[in-house]
Amino acid sequence: MFLDQKYLFTPGPTPIPNRVNQAMSRPMIGHRVSEFSDLLEDVSTRLKPVFGSKNPVYILAGSGTSALETAVVNTVSEGDHVVCVVAGAFGDRFASICEEYGVNVDRLNIEWGEACTPDKLEDFLKNLSGEPVKAVFATFNETSTGVLNPIHELGEVVKRLTDALYIVDGVSCIGGVPVNMEDDHIDILVTGSQKALMLPPGLAFITFSDQAKKVIEDCQTKRFYLDLNRYIKSYAEQTSTPFTPAISLIAGAKEVCNMFEEEGWDNVIKRHLLLRDMTREGLKAIGLPLLTDDAVASPTVTAVKPQLYCRAGYPKSIESSFFNRRCRRSKEIKRKNHPDRSHGLLHTI
Ligand SMILES: Cc1ncc(COP(=O)(O)O)c(C=O)c1O
Repeated sequence: MFLDQKYLFTPGPTPIPNRVNQAMSRPMIGHRVSEFSDLLEDVSTRLKPVFGSKNPVYILAGSGTSALETAVVNTVSEGDHVVCVVAGAFGDRFASICEEYGVNVDRLNIEWGEACTPDKLEDFLKNLSGEPVKAVFATFNETSTGVLNPIHELGEVVKRLTDALYIVDGVSCIGGVPVNMEDDHIDILVTGSQKALMLPPGLAFITFSDQAKKVIEDCQTKRFYLDLNRYIKSYAEQTSTPFTPAISLIAGAKEVCNMFEEEGWDNVIKRHLLLRDMTREGLKAIGLPLLTDDAVASPTVTAVKPQLYCRAGYPKSIESSFFNRRCRRSKEIKRKNHPDRSHGLLHTI
């Protein structure tokens, strides 16, 4: 908790710790000097436990969506067949990016507020006809609903039934949940800087398995800035990035690594679980209905449905506009109105 600053009660951007802000305001350095190489290597290596990756974490300048697009354009091409688990707005985004590149997408649509169960994925994959699936895309933490999908169990199904890459959007949870790419069968894991990594928006992080690396090398999709082969080469040959990186944000990421290590990674995870439980209990105590069951509740994002509460005929003391009014009154609190299917009635914190 950073009590010295305004609270942004949104899934992201999240508040920046002062020491991270200070690290980012140090004098600028160039990206073709050894000082930057040391910085990049330090961050790419020390983020490995946070991503549960044995390979370096590559850093691009871009938002979370650029990380999703990077995962798509480096693995699949026009005419390929993929499956996208769509349990909310960000599953839909992965599917839309694939479709934009002419990829054939089979969407496994999940009711908003629910997790994709391994059984659902298994049935879906078994009933697919046509060409083999090249990749299965899933959202680890569906920000629009506050659901944490069972990413390990889904990975087991993918690897048991297909030869597909398992590509995971971790934008709203990496830095707050445990993950081990090898154990969880994840081939590509991406995130952005502005959520559980406590940085400003602007960095995209991506790491991948050896199997995915081969696919990336062979992928024929036209790409330039998002071509991971350029990042792999530049890191291997110069410990740098192919294009000018967001140097200050990477300096901030180093301070985030310091903070994680000082607190201890296990404690970081426990803290997020505690904050989830406190948030959910607090909302329950004031009578606001939560969208998700405790069993699938995200440690990083909580969704409430005040309007449904009102419609269901509950006491006027907590009416539909209660949440909006309280949020507006408290200048310290910013919360997000999500453009969900019920026309902006869902709030994610
Ligand atoms: C799960 C998830 N994926 C992708 C994105 C897109 O990230 P950005 O808005 O940084 O492009 C977000 C943003 O909230 C997200 O929560």
